[in-house]
Amino acid sequence: MISIRNLNHRYGDWPVLHDINLQLSERRIALIGANGSGKSTLARTFNGLLQPEQGEVHVNGVDVRRHPGEARRHVGFIFSDADSQIIMPTVAEDVALGLRRFKYDKARVKQEVDSLLQRYGLERHADHSAHLLSGGQKQMLALSSVLATQPKILICDEPTTLLDLHNVELFVQTLRGLEQQVILLTHQLEIIEDFDRVIVIDKGRVHFDGLPGEAIDQYKRLIRNRLAHREEAV
Ligand SMILES: Nc1ncnc2c1ncn2[C@@H]1O[C@H](COP(=O)(O)OP(=O)(O)O)[C@@H](O)[C@H]1O
Ligand SMILES: [Mg+2]
Repeated sequence: MISIRNLNHRYGDWPVLHDINLQLSERRIALIGANGSGKSTLARTFNGLLQPEQGEVHVNGVDVRRHPGEARRHVGFIFSDADSQIIMPTVAEDVALGLRRFKYDKARVKQEVDSLLQRYGLERHADHSAHLLSGGQKQMLALSSVLATQPKILICDEPTTLLDLHNVELFVQTLRGLEQQVILLTHQLEIIEDFDRVIVIDKGRVHFDGLPGEAIDQYKRLIRNRLAHREEAV
């Protein structure tokens, strides 16, 4: 559960988020909106990657501003570029890094790593160089390493943008099966049709908040209207 109250943010004197108030409790939530509408900025406040200029964010009751370390333990983050998230040389080592805070002994680490790699289809790659995996495998590795930390909430900022159709489907199917709450930022509208809630962000504000079908319609209408007005102005 993420609770956002009166959130406002500017980069310098450039306003990006205006008066955002949201209670995010559904299991599958999508944030959609045009490039530059403020989705990533908003999502980055959910685990203290960014401190908003004004307003409060609580994650499962934890004030992110006051306790960013604790908030971060609740919230895992996945980005489009899997390369930027892979830290260790091999696949197994990268997943093991996510387990470090549990202070398991060596045998338990191996058991947990094997089990995660098995679950996410990477078992044959345990000792391979992480950076030589395919794009889809890298994103599954990033997911495995984040899930190793046992977050309660997973934020995915355009995780499938760089993937081919097969890997988009695989990644999304995997998200569907997770017990975690998932907040997905995406431009791939077909993958959120079965989500519980879809929030349309436009120019730093909540433009629409509701069920996927209507949210996607509202978003398309907004973009078409904007294009039509542009044509009129030409
Ligand atoms: N670190 C930053 N410094 C200055 N401006 C930024 C920064 N990050 C994003 N912006 C600007 O803030 C606006 C919102 O960006 P962003 O949150 O990335 O939107 P989205 O994820 O919806 O594409 C854009 O105009 C973008 O150029
Ligand atoms: Mg973004």
